[in-house]
Order: sequence, then structure tokens, then C-alpha cells
Amino acid sequence: MDTTKRADVPGGDDLPGEPVSLWLATTPETDFPQLKSDLSVDVAIIGGGIAGITTALLLKERGAKVAVIEARRIAASVTGNTTAKVTSQHGLIYDHLVSQFGMEGAQAYADSQQAALEKIASLVEANRIDCDFTRTNAYVYTEEEDELKRITAEVEAATKLGLPASYVETTPLPFEIKGAIQFSNQARFHPRKYLLALARKIQGDGSNIFEETRALDIEEEDSTCRVATDQGVVKAGKVVIASHFPFYDHGMYFARMHPKRSYVLGCRLSGEAPEGMFITSDAPFHSFRSNPLETGGEIWMVGGENHKTGQGGDTREHYTNLERWARERFDVETIEYRWSTQDNVTVDRVPYIGKASSGSEHLFVATGFGGWGMTNSTVSAIILSDLVLGRENAWSSLYDPNRFKPLTSVKDLVVENVDVAKHFVGDRLSVKEEESVPDLMEGEGRVVELDDEKVAICKLEGGATHAVSATCTHMGCVVAWNGAEKSWDCPCHGSRFNYDGTVIQGPANKDLKKVSLNDKE
Ligand code: FES
Repeated sequence: MDTTKRADVPGGDDLPGEPVSLWLATTPETDFPQLKSDLSVDVAIIGGGIAGITTALLLKERGAKVAVIEARRIAASVTGNTTAKVTSQHGLIYDHLVSQFGMEGAQAYADSQQAALEKIASLVEANRIDCDFTRTNAYVYTEEEDELKRITAEVEAATKLGLPASYVETTPLPFEIKGAIQFSNQARFHPRKYLLALARKIQGDGSNIFEETRALDIEEEDSTCRVATDQGVVKAGKVVIASHFPFYDHGMYFARMHPKRSYVLGCRLSGEAPEGMFITSDAPFHSFRSNPLETGGEIWMVGGENHKTGQGGDTREHYTNLERWARERFDVETIEYRWSTQDNVTVDRVPYIGKASSGSEHLFVATGFGGWGMTNSTVSAIILSDLVLGRENAWSSLYDPNRFKPLTSVKDLVVENVDVAKHFVGDRLSVKEEESVPDLMEGEGRVVELDDEKVAICKLEGGATHAVSATCTHMGCVVAWNGAEKSWDCPCHGSRFNYDGTVIQGPANKDLKKVSLNDKE
């Protein structure tokens, strides 16, 4: 296979591994066309990750003409940087769901997640997709005696809901644990091999995928919507926003979820990797699983070091911490890849899937997958392909973005917004005023005030200096330097910009303004 390694992150530093995910490193780059002229379709889908691609496919299979609009390249952003666990086991969640949503709500979650797992399996089989799809067990384990109570409560809740759960005291891991919950017959796969095959089925017969076409605005009219992009207008009867964090936010999503980042190392072990997918139940969070390589052997993924976006301190340390932790636990021979990803966590841990706002007839949204994007995105596709076509769906009320009845959600909502307000005000006040452009070390980035303007300046390895406005184009918070990924990250709602100010990740959809340092000397 022709493989092209692609990374947004410039290398040249001393962190372990190449700065690219296993998935991107081992699949060809896509080259779907840009939108060239205005177009009319039944459904426009904004975002070409697993949620957008799967929704588009299910709608096309039911006779709709669809257009997927992707700002960059499909299956390359969050989906290209996942650890791709296909499981209904989402940490310890079922005991929480029973207490927050009752048995009925928890049952809808369990059933929909298991159905998503089987939907992926059936798509793989029906389309004969060669994507390393392998059935395996999933574990949440603890090494702490105190944590066993939570594990056993989860086993009890999951078993009552009919999930394939059991309590175990040993796992295939090469170290002892206190106890674990095991879900049997779950799955792992190569997400890009899977999605590139699905994408090929979308293109044609009046349906299209457009890459490098950024959606800028949506106008909802009586019976149709106009999606304005930087390449032209797409008119559609319905629009699905599957752009990770919704860029078009009439549902106040920015106030009811928070973005978090996490890090992954792709290692070669000296022996065979343990079979299964594993996460810790207790802090600090870690996860691991393997995937085969076409060239032989396998990559053992070790993930962890979560933090809220833009609030991770020196982000380079997260990779070095992860490397230390991985080498303490496993016989790591080499580290081949490193990558990071971003997830949106909702206030009650259930994604927002459905009508984008209560007054909206034509706009739908899928977001807030909380790190469990493989099945949650497929649940989104199943629900939205019903709702968009005016059909009922038995799971839709649990995931309804316009819920917000449980009191705990309201409390958590306030906490989220206090955090954002703290950054909105506090970060502005803490920016230091400088008389002249500061002298930075290679790899360093800093926000300073020069001539009454907040400027984000970084110096890459090799010496190139870039300066951009430090004011996030979403809602005006001050961005923070992410030294590991060479990006400017917003602590308020998780927008990310490359070192040169171009948008990597929304909700922002405009680049940071470039600043000339010659005018500031
Ligand atoms: Fe909302 Fe930056 S992402 S202000």
C-alpha cells in the first residue's frame, strides 16, 4: 500500500517517536475534491470524521442525496487520532447512568452502544473491509483496593442491563491487578482503513464528499438551509453538524461541554502484546491496546495524561510522563509514533445527538462523545439517519441535546462556565506587557502584550519565529502555547490553531490574525 506519513506537528524536537498517529502513518492521504460551485442536496453533513461519514452512508443507503463538507481532510482530525476501541464499555458509566437516568435511560444507552458495535461489525462484513477488525475483550481495571467498590457496582449495573459483563481478578496484562470488569466480544480495528472504505461508497450517484471546504455559516429558512462555505453554497433540506465541537452554535454547546486532550505513544514491545483493550478505573487514567502492522509485528498503544485543552502546562511533559509510565509497566523496545487527541465531555456524560436546538426543524447535531467516539458516532449515525428522514428512534430522547432536566447537569453546567469565565477574564489580566519582542528559546511559545495588542509568539526548532493575535476567533479568550503539538490552544472551548494561526480544530472557524513583529521592534 502506498503510505504517506502526514503530521501537522513539525518534528525536530527530542520527544519520542514520529509525531503522527499509527492510523495516518499507515494509510494513503485522501484527495476528494473541493466544492467548486453551488450545489443542492437532500442532506448536508458538516464534518468528515466517523460520525459524518457513517451518517452520510446510512442516509445514502436510504435514498438521500448527501454532501459531506470537510474543512481539511476526512478521517484525519479526531478520528485520525483516536485509539479506536469499538466497545460499549465506556469506563465506569452504567452505575452512573442508572442513578442519573434510571434503568430506562441506562438501558437505552447500553442497547444503543451494543447496536453500534454490531453495526460496525456488519458494515465491515457486508463490504468486506480489510481493516484489522478483531473481536476482543475490554477491561476496566484497578490496582487499588478502595476502587473495588466502584468496579463491583459497575458489574452489577452492567449485568442488570444485559451487557456481556463479568468481574475478573486477572487479565492478560503483565502485572497484578486488584480487580476488573470485563466486557466480552467487543472489538478493535483500524479506523482509517474502515472509514476510507465507507467514504468510497458515499461518492457518486448525486452524493459527494468535499475536502478543504470550510463551512462558515448556516442560514435556516422555511423548508431549506443554506450552508455557506469558503468555496460556495450548499443548499440542503436538512443539515447535520458533525464537526466535533459544533462551529454553528445556537444550542449553547460551548456552555455545556468541555474539551480535554490526551496523549498516545505507539510502541513496539520486545514480546507479544497482551490481547485485549484496557483502561484504568482510577486516576491517573491510562489506556492500552494493540494493532497489527502490515509490515509485521504490532504496535502497542499506551494512552493517558488527560487534561482540559489549553490548561495542560508544559504539554511536552505529558509525553515524557507517558513514556516513563509505559517503560515501567511494559517491555518497550522502541517508540514508533506519538500523537494526541481531543474529546468533548458533556455535563452528564451522555452525548448530544438530535435536533440542534428546540426551535430547529432542519438542523441536527452530534457531539460530546467523551472519548468513546467509535460507538457514539455510530449511535449518532443510526439516530440521525432516522430523525433526518422524519422517523422515530427509540434511543433519541436519552441523547436529545435539549434535555437538561437532571439537577446535577445544571450544577455541572455552572462549574463548566465558571471555569470558562475564569479564563476569559483571568488570562487577559495575566498577560505581561513587554517593551520589545521577547527573545524565545527554540520550541518556546509565549503570549505577551506589545503596543496594547495581545500577541502569541513562538519559535520553532530550527529558529523560525511566528507571531499571531492571541485572541481566539471564537469568543475572544486568550490562547495558550502547546509545546508538544506546536499549536495555540484555547482554554475556553478547545479551539486549536497551528503555530502559524491556521485553524486546526473548532468551534473557531477563522484563523488567528498574523502579526508583523517588524512593527513591534
Ligand atoms: Fe471559544 Fe476560544 S474556543 S473562545
